[in-house]
Amino acid sequence: MQQRKLGKTDINASVLGFGGSEIGYQRASARTVAKLLGSALDAGLNVIDTAECYEDSEVLIGKAVGARRNDFALFTKCGHAGGWGRADWRLEALLKSVERSLKRLGTAHVDLVQLHSCSLDVLKRGDAITALERARERGWTRYIGYSGDGAAARYAIETGRFDTLQTSISIADQEALELTLPLARERGMGVIAKRPLANVAWRYTRRPESYYADYYERLRVLTYPFLEKAETAVATALRFTLSVPGVHTAIVGTTKPERWQENAAMVARGPLPKKDFDGIRARWREVADASWEGQV
Ligand SMILES: NC(=O)c1ccc[n+]([C@@H]2O[C@H](COP(=O)([O-])OP(=O)(O)OC[C@H]3O[C@@H](n4cnc5c(N)ncnc54)[C@H](OP(=O)(O)O)[C@@H]3O)[C@@H](O)[C@H]2O)c1
Repeated sequence: MQQRKLGKTDINASVLGFGGSEIGYQRASARTVAKLLGSALDAGLNVIDTAECYEDSEVLIGKAVGARRNDFALFTKCGHAGGWGRADWRLEALLKSVERSLKRLGTAHVDLVQLHSCSLDVLKRGDAITALERARERGWTRYIGYSGDGAAARYAIETGRFDTLQTSISIADQEALELTLPLARERGMGVIAKRPLANVAWRYTRRPESYYADYYERLRVLTYPFLEKAETAVATALRFTLSVPGVHTAIVGTTKPERWQENAAMVARGPLPKKDFDGIRARWREVADASWEGQV
């Protein structure tokens, strides 16, 4: 598994990382998560991303691979300890949330704590960023980051206070390629691509009632010819995300232990050929309108 240095951090991140939301929201069993993460670590995974609000994701990860803590970089997020939609960006609340994450993950420190998609206004108030800096001073995290999109992500980079940016990048979400990634690269930030497969939203025959409904709609307009070939569609989508300049790791979510091997084999084929990459970019520029913003 190829690794890329995560910006100015000392982390050499595997290009394929693990996104921990699905195991939480889909209530994967402890056994499944142990199998999934154990075999992935054996095969080269070294980035695991989770959040305080992904139901039991942190606890499941702690139980499954806590004993192998030195084998991987552990990222979490804070801001919604009471569940998504019940945000609390006050300084003390955020510190409590990080402390709770450490307990749930069964570790003395994580490698990265990220603000979980707070608004531009919250970022501008500054307290939330100060909270992460305090967590770093206390040794609870080695690095701090912002996870989010659009104008807030741009502002987060401009503050110069974050080590990393986690942002949506995929065949159906390309705003970041112009709005944030060039600046993040210039500043030496680590970049983590979230939702790197656009939630495979093209697999549905009807508009899904889900947070990826927008991707479904966009893909119907984008009509990429490669999506018609089921056997190569996921590989092309994943290799596109990892071919974007400035991206260091793509955190794919799944509850299925066999996915890691499948996705690792796709990634091993390296970047997309330039003509395929340029074709996807050209199609996006042709049809994307101003409403096609980065999706949180
Ligand atoms: N605001 C934020 O900070 C934020 C928001 C969203 C996501 N995230 C992070 O980003 C991670 C990834 O995002 P995501 O899980 O929403 O989107 P994603 O990684 O783009 O898509 C996940 C979906 O891809 C499917 N999949 C994976 N490998 C596949 C394969 N080889 N073939 C077919 N389907 C495949 C999975 O289905 P199966 O279960 O069938 O494998 C899953 O439903 C999250 O887990 C989370 O850590 C952060």
